[in-house]
Amino acid sequence: MNRKGIILAGGLNTRLFPITKVISKQLLPVYDKPLIYYPISTLMLTGIKEILIISDKNNLPIYKKLLGNGKNFGVKLFYKLQNKPRGIAEALIIGKNFLKKSPVALILGDNIFYGNNLLKILKKNSLKINKNTIFAYQVPNPKQFGVVEFNQKKGIKSIEEKPKDPKSNFVVTGLYFFDKNAVDYASKLNFSQRGELEITDLNNIYLSNKNLSIEILGRGFSWFDCGTPDLLYQAQSFVQLMQNRNMLQIGCLEEIAIGNKWISKNLLKKMIKEYPENQYKNYLKKMLY
Ligand code: DAU
Repeated sequence: MNRKGIILAGGLNTRLFPITKVISKQLLPVYDKPLIYYPISTLMLTGIKEILIISDKNNLPIYKKLLGNGKNFGVKLFYKLQNKPRGIAEALIIGKNFLKKSPVALILGDNIFYGNNLLKILKKNSLKINKNTIFAYQVPNPKQFGVVEFNQKKGIKSIEEKPKDPKSNFVVTGLYFFDKNAVDYASKLNFSQRGELEITDLNNIYLSNKNLSIEILGRGFSWFDCGTPDLLYQAQSFVQLMQNRNMLQIGCLEEIAIGNKWISKNLLKKMIKEYPENQYKNYLKKMLY
C-alpha cells in the first residue's frame, strides 16, 4: 500500500505574533516561496502523491487558493479542518478517512529539510511500510523540542518532550513515518498537561512496542523549524544563500514534479505562461529544454 502524506499547518503560532496575527505561519515567505512549499517538496521527494493539508478555518481557504487540487504539481491535495490546535498527533485522527489504513508520512508545515543524501534516506525509509521512523538532528538548544536519549547500541532509549534536563542534543524533527496503526494508537492517547495529543506520546507507544527506528540527519544536512522569528529568519537566509550560490532551487514544486515525471513539459509550459515575469519563472523556463 502506498504511503500517504499529511501536512499539519495550523496552530496558534503565538511565538511569531504579530506576523501571524492574520495569516498562518506556514504561508509566510521563506525567501521566494511560501513556507508550506518546503514540507510539500519533502513529501514529493519521498515519492508521495496523495497529501492531506490540515489547518484552521481562516487559513484553509488560502491554502486551497494557493495550491488547488495539486494537479499542477502532479499530486493530489486534500484539505481538512482542525478546529483547535489539540496536538500534532490529532492530525492522524483527522486524517483517518483519508489514510484508510495506509502508512503515513506526517510532516509539520513549518519544517524545512535540506541535504545531499536526503532523497535516498527518505525513499529508503518510506519503503519500509511496516516500520516507524523518526528523523533526529543535533541542535544547540534541545529544551524546546522532543529530545532523544540513546541506548548503548545507538538506538532510542527514550524520547522526552521539552525536557528541563535534556539527555542529548539530538531532537526529533517534525517528520514521522508511521505504519497503518498510527490512527488507532493516536486515538488512544490522552491529552497532556498542556492540553495536547502529543506526538512524543505516540512515538513512545511505538518505542515500547520495539518498533521505532531513528535516522540521524548528520553532517551535510540542514533542518529548520521556523517556530520563532530567529528560526524563520535563519531559514530565509539559508534558502537565499544556497539558491544564489548554486543556482538550484530548494522546494520548487514544479521542478520536483518534472523530475519525478509526474507532469509533462507541455503542462509546465502552459502553466508558466500564466506566471508573472520573475526569477521563479525564469528558473522554470529552463526545465522546458
Ligand atoms: O519541530 C519539531 C518539534 O515539533 C518536535 O521536536 C517536538 O517533539 C514536537 O512536539 C513539535 O514541537 P513544537 O513545540 O515545535 O510544536 P508546536 O506546538 O509549535 O507545533 C508544531 C507545528 O504544528 C506548528 O507549525 C503549529 C502546528 N500545529 C501544532 C499543534 C499543536 C498545528 O497545526 N496544530 C496543533 O494542534
